[in-house]
Amino acid sequence: NVPAFELIPVIDSTNQHLLDRVGQLESGSACLAEYQQAGRGRRGRAWFSPFGANLYLSMYWRLDAGMAAAMGLSLVVGVSMAETLQNLGAEGVKVKWPNDLYWNDKKLAGILVEMTGQAGDAAHLVIGMGLNVAMPETDEVDQSWANLQDACHPLPDKNALAAALINGVTEALKQYEETGMAGFVPRWDSYDNFQGRAVKLLLGERVVKGIARGINEQGALLLETENGITPYLGGEISLRAD
Ligand code: BTN
Repeated sequence: NVPAFELIPVIDSTNQHLLDRVGQLESGSACLAEYQQAGRGRRGRAWFSPFGANLYLSMYWRLDAGMAAAMGLSLVVGVSMAETLQNLGAEGVKVKWPNDLYWNDKKLAGILVEMTGQAGDAAHLVIGMGLNVAMPETDEVDQSWANLQDACHPLPDKNALAAALINGVTEALKQYEETGMAGFVPRWDSYDNFQGRAVKLLLGERVVKGIARGINEQGALLLETENGITPYLGGEISLRAD
């Protein structure tokens, strides 16, 4: 009963592929595609997935602690991806709360965690990682992005990258299951792209302005305003000039 690995040339979405097979998979099983016809991002957005350019990788994880632990899990995945890329020679890879990787203030990778399973039971999670490696110029993406080929010299080949990410994330998730979020807070801090910087948090219609002060052990973003430091569990942050 070892985790399986599948390399698929063309698929709708690697996340969907694993979600459809949750009952048959060992925890840690992964699949990698070269092209996604219906790649998806967070908040119902599409994830542009041109052929062969980038890494489209998903992993199945059975989390016995249940859904409540899933928030921390997605931060743990981001930290371990940043560490793995740095170990492979990439310089300046950062994390953005809650689950992106950044390089030079531009998005390098996005993480989409999807789940099935009932409250109280084990959570069945599919962790999708979209890593820009050599994304060509395009009108399909509405935010500025970075490519790993600009951060990492020499650039490892895709199989080596995928293998290292699967191993790194697997190790991190095992540790998370044993000891929780605590050990990851300092690891997060050392890669945090926004630590000490002026940001705004978009919370639905509301905007909160403050200074980013890292995360707490629940995985919440800590924002310092004139009222002190407040933890936030939702929303999207961006840099601000005012
Ligand atoms: C985001 O930043 O919005 C998350 C993007 C996640 C994209 C990856 S690519 C592999 C996996 N399969 C999908 O359909 N999405 C994720």
